[in-house]
Formats: sequence, structure tokens, C-alpha cells
Amino acid sequence: MRTRGPRKGATSKKPVKETASGASKIGGVLRIGGASCVELADCYGTPLYVTDEGRIRENYRRIWHAFANRWRNLRVYYAVKANANLSVLSILRQEGAGADCSGVEEARLAMMAGFRPDDILLTASYINATDLKTALALGVRVNLDDASALDHITGEGIPAFISMRINPGVGRGHHAGVVTAGRDSKFGMDETAAVDAYEKAKALGIRDFGIHMMAGSGSLDADYFGEITKKLLGIADEISTRVGIEFSFVDLGGGFGIPHRNGERPLDINRAATLITDEMKASFGSSDRAPVLAIEPGRYIVGDSTILLARVRSVKRGVKTFVGIDAGMNTFVRPALYGAYHEILLANRGEKDMETVSVCGTICENTDLMAKDVLLPKMEPGDLVAILNAGAYGFSMSSQYNTNPRPAEALVLDGTHQLTRERETLSDVIGRQHVPPRLTRQAN
Ligand SMILES: Cc1ncc(COP(=O)(O)O)c(C=O)c1O
Repeated sequence: MRTRGPRKGATSKKPVKETASGASKIGGVLRIGGASCVELADCYGTPLYVTDEGRIRENYRRIWHAFANRWRNLRVYYAVKANANLSVLSILRQEGAGADCSGVEEARLAMMAGFRPDDILLTASYINATDLKTALALGVRVNLDDASALDHITGEGIPAFISMRINPGVGRGHHAGVVTAGRDSKFGMDETAAVDAYEKAKALGIRDFGIHMMAGSGSLDADYFGEITKKLLGIADEISTRVGIEFSFVDLGGGFGIPHRNGERPLDINRAATLITDEMKASFGSSDRAPVLAIEPGRYIVGDSTILLARVRSVKRGVKTFVGIDAGMNTFVRPALYGAYHEILLANRGEKDMETVSVCGTICENTDLMAKDVLLPKMEPGDLVAILNAGAYGFSMSSQYNTNPRPAEALVLDGTHQLTRERETLSDVIGRQHVPPRLTRQAN
């Protein structure tokens, strides 16, 4: 761990460009959270994820206030899967968030960051008996994706509270791959299955019930959040009547998007919160007995807090121009996986001539592209680039493909920075492998 301040006098020049990530160029050099990207890359090497702590706090507070101003009993569970860095989790724990976890190990991680078990909500798909029992023994709140999981709950392990993940039949996302509701979705249960599930839970003796959905990720349309809430609350009402239960907890999941392209309008979070809470008021009134309203934002909180710094290795000019950088689909898979657009900036100097290029990594796959046919300043080997909005599903989806150690992560705050995750080495990649003695070089 190392802490460094900004270079002397570095903040004296005016920012020339403020990016969606809050990063800005001063004297040609990109800065994030007051720290110079050149200094960060020199200090920790590349590829490097750099997260601005201040931005996470701002994002959290914005979404919290949007909802808390309109609904008294609010719970914001940060979606750990978006960015599971322990420092990021600790920031959000300090802010007062709960943790939305997709499995037992994420729940354990959240506890390591100081979250109390009852501030953790676990929504695991296709959970087995061992994990469910572990989750209940840890004392975390559980949200089931499938009624059959109730068969694993017996005897003394019966929790006071249970929630079910509903598939409301429709959802939206920035890509078909992140629509998590509807006929083709592997998640949640339809209304009929949910009625059976709550009846089964009631028969087990459970008396405190929640209802949950997560219909898709990355929507910028506030109206959509109102529509989808209405849909879920209609289902909740039907279940209440048919099963004879009341809900103490309504969880709408995450999905609040951030703009990725210049000129794209940000989600109007106040409008989304108004539409959602209006639906809640229409269903439950606004007395103290109204249920807790929960949301599980991931991308909205961390997406634009982070940039990925990478170094240009070589520039290949032919029929097309390819800029090869040291971050690929192994480092940041979203462009290859979802065709996601992430703005790329030259980070170490001012811009002169521009050219149309594709930016690629070093991985042996033709889908290893960070950007296709984009207009960028003419690059040279050694230049530094920043891939913006890389804080959600960035490091957390990285891999060791092509025997590449995972990158490092750094945190900046008001111009100071420190490493929060060391760069892996080859031994981390080889890690836990064992070669049978008969296959070793000495054996033959
Ligand atoms: C259950 C659940 N909650 C919350 C989230 C966070 O979504 P987002 O990052 O779009 O806010 C996800 C993402 O997949 C999820 O599956």
C-alpha cells in the first residue's frame, strides 16, 4: 500500500474537459479525483483500474436522497457483483448502504468489509442446500429465485423472513444479455410459481415476507421504472390476496443506468424515484405500516467512478488502423460480451491529429476489441489511454484468459492515491494447479 499526493503545482491549470467519469484534462494530462493519470500509471503500472472515492459517495448520496425524500422506510443494498473491491464495499458501508449479494462468498466478502449480516440480502440463483443453510446460519436475509429451494429449509433452520424473486414477464436493459426478466430469463418465478412458493413458505411457519424483482440493467428511462414497479405491485397484490399474507419488504432490484455516449441524457433519478414511490403509495399508502422499499443499484453507484488506464503497445496501420493496448477482454470484457460502448481518451498528452481506429487488446480472439472504428487522437506506442465508466462489471468480470494475471486497482481521493488490489503475477494464475508426477519433465 502506498499513498502519494498530487505533483506540486499540478492543479494550477484549468480543466479543459470534464468527462462523464468526472475525469478532466489539465495541460493535456487526464486527472481523476485530483490525481494525474500519468503519475498513477507510472506508480502502479498498467492496466490499472482507478476509482474515485468521492464519486462513489456522490452517486450513493444522490440515489439515496432521491428515494429517501419520497419514502420513509428505504433500504439501499449496493449490488456487490458490480464491483467487489473491499475498499469500495467499505466506502458504501460507511455511507450506510446494505449489500446485495449473489452468493454465499459475496456475503462473506461483505461481512469482511464490515457489513452486518442483517444488512445483507442474498439473492442466489439455483442455490443448493449447503449454500442456503450457510446463508441462514450467517444470519443474512434470503431472497429465493426458485420455490424448490424451500425444500432445503427444515427444522431449526426456518428463518423469520423470506423473500421471493419474481419474474414480472418484462424487463429492459442496455443489451439483450442484461435483460433479466421475461420468458427467456433464467431468473425468478412467474406469478403462479410464486403463489405456490409463498404458500409453501407459510406452511413452513415463515411469517415475514418480502417480494423482489430485478428486470434488467442499464436503463436510462425513468418512466420504465414506474411501469415495472406497477407490474410488480400488481403481482404482489394478487399474491397477498391468494396466499393471505402481507409484504413487509418490496425490493425493485437495480438497473438504474448511466450515460455512456456523449450527449446521452442521464437517467432522471428523481423522476424515477417519484414514479416508483407513487406506485408504492397507491398500493400501500404511506403510513408507518407500509413496507420497506428496497433498491439494489450497482452500476449507478460505481459505474462512472472508475477509469481503466492502459498503455498503447503498438499501432498497426493497414486497411484499417488497430491500436493495440495492454488491456483486453481479459481485463474488461463488457465491449466484447455486450458490444458495450465505453469512451476512450488519450490520457498523457494533448490531442493533435485525429484518425479512425479500432482499439484492441492482446488476446487471441477477434472479439478482443475495446472500441471499433472510433475517432481518436493519433496514438503512438507508449501513449496512455483511459477507458471511461469502467467501475461496474469491470474488474469483477475480469479473467486470466491467455494466462494473463489480473490488473491492479487503485483508489483516489482529493489527489491522493493508493493501491487497493495488487497486480496478480503468474503464480496467481498457476495458483492451485497440481500436475500429476507422471506428467512432469523429470518423469519422461
Ligand atoms: C439481483 C440483482 N440486483 C442488483 C443488480 C445490479 O444491477 P445494476 O448494476 O444494473 O444496478 C443485479 C445485476 O445483475 C442483480 O442481478
